[in-house]
Amino acid sequence: MDIGVYLKERKEAVERHLARIVSRWPGPGAPGGELAGAMAYSLEAGGKRLRPILVLAACRACGRDEVEAVYNGACALELLHTYTLIHDDLPVMDDDDFRRGLPTCHRKFGERRALLAGVGLLCAAFEELGRSAGELRLSRKEAGEVLEEVAAALGGGGVVGGQLVDLESERKEIGRETLNYIHSHKTGALLRVSCTLGGRLARADRKKLAALAEYGEQLGLAFQIVDDLLDVEGDSRVLGKTAGADQARGKATFPALYGLVESRKLAAGAVEKSIAALERARLDGEGILGGLAGFVLTRNY
Ligand code: IPE
Ligand code: IPE
Ligand code: MG
Ligand code: MG
Ligand code: MG
Repeated sequence: MDIGVYLKERKEAVERHLARIVSRWPGPGAPGGELAGAMAYSLEAGGKRLRPILVLAACRACGRDEVEAVYNGACALELLHTYTLIHDDLPVMDDDDFRRGLPTCHRKFGERRALLAGVGLLCAAFEELGRSAGELRLSRKEAGEVLEEVAAALGGGGVVGGQLVDLESERKEIGRETLNYIHSHKTGALLRVSCTLGGRLARADRKKLAALAEYGEQLGLAFQIVDDLLDVEGDSRVLGKTAGADQARGKATFPALYGLVESRKLAAGAVEKSIAALERARLDGEGILGGLAGFVLTRNY
């Protein structure tokens, strides 16, 4: 399968489904409509939709068709990702003005609404996850595991923990171990759980879930190394966000610690490991997950 075509088709399908989710929220003028408007603004601004696409691809690799209920679970990951972006851009965090080619949520709606829009997306995501688990008739135990694993990926032992260390490491000299911690938590945790969620929605066995976790872990590390590289080498108009922001804030990044050439090699090494994990478990007959790993490395946005 041509991975470019796969990405384009799934992105369109995810966006159609996101519009359906947004249509369940209060409309303009209704109570809660103002907040829903700010949530939808950031969600519908665009983006690669990589996390939901990983859910769909992992689910398919484990033998379940991409039915409507799987889309609800997949889109929950995009709501979560968008929440992390809105908060990441706030003045108290990275203080960025552009995201997905538009003014950031707080530049458009003010900090108060942006903060609450982020929390609103976080909560809406768990609603969709619960809906997905119910529609797929997962057992209570399976559904409980889904919620537990996703919540853990977002919390202090995951994204939020990584974000704090990222912010507190600005303009400091940090070692390789801390840098790996930052990247595998602030970014890796959500990508990893996108992969295992896909497996869980397909009721994959332990061995497959472990392989998806290893694939997602390595993919997540590669993804954030490339994000750091694009901040140095990328074009703001293509990225839809301001390049050069990391250096301006004295962020702890792979290029800052290892240089550009070595960082690129480390990202390629992580992608190789991610593909090896799939091969060991014979998980990727169609080559879609492997193709997505390749995309993570070659992307320019
Ligand atoms: C940006 O994520 C934030 C990071 C975790 C590096 P993406 O590069 O996936 O952003 P979108 O979703 O395509 O806008
Ligand atoms: C983003 O890392 C991680 C999260 C949003 C949790 P970055 O701060 O590097 O992401 P960008 O570069 O702003 O997209
Ligand atoms: Mg950040
Ligand atoms: Mg940022
Ligand atoms: Mg970045």
